[in-house]
Amino acid sequence: MKRAVYPGSFDPITNGHIYIAERAAAIFDELWVSILVNPQKHYLFSVEERYAMARDAFSAFPNIRVDHFTGLLVDYLRQQDLQVIVRGLRAMSDFEYEFQMALMNRQLAPEVETIFIVTDAKYSYLSSSAIRDIFQFGGSIESMVPPCVIRHLHRRFFSDSQ
Ligand code: COA
Repeated sequence: MKRAVYPGSFDPITNGHIYIAERAAAIFDELWVSILVNPQKHYLFSVEERYAMARDAFSAFPNIRVDHFTGLLVDYLRQQDLQVIVRGLRAMSDFEYEFQMALMNRQLAPEVETIFIVTDAKYSYLSSSAIRDIFQFGGSIESMVPPCVIRHLHRRFFSDSQ
């Protein structure tokens, strides 16, 4: 059984991420969408919120599982017996960073493979920080994220006192 991980910050998950995950889930028996918890990084959403949004986004996909991890990605793969890292490519500008990360992960764990899935052209400009900015300043994001993300953004920007 071939199992892969699609790791990321997912702060929040976007339709671009969902597109990559759907295509990966069609290739592998099981896909784990795993949310990175980096204690040194400042996120808009807590890991529980990012997890809840991703769970909601993938609820209709029987072979997509949502998880989270702290630490090195290759350690997580070994612990969970996952063989492949899936990453999305939106533009050439993603490539250099992704290439270096893939080489570093191979250095750390030669048995692990990284594969890249090219996004759809309509998502090539999308990023989580763009979503956060557009929403915060009143722009429309309906075509860019699932409805549960819009609900969480509303709560964060208009209901929370923090
Ligand atoms: N659609 C939409 N947006 C996408 C996207 C896609 N297909 N692919 C990437 N992005 C965006 C994200 O939204 C995010 O946008 P933002 O910076 O504006 O918020 C950005 O690209 C990068 O996000 P992400 O894919 O989450 O990458 P990351 O750099 O935050 O995390 C990890 C990548 C988790 C895989 C990496 O940091 C990791 O493995 N960390 C664990 C520690 C480790 O092992 N380090 C050694 C690795 S060499």
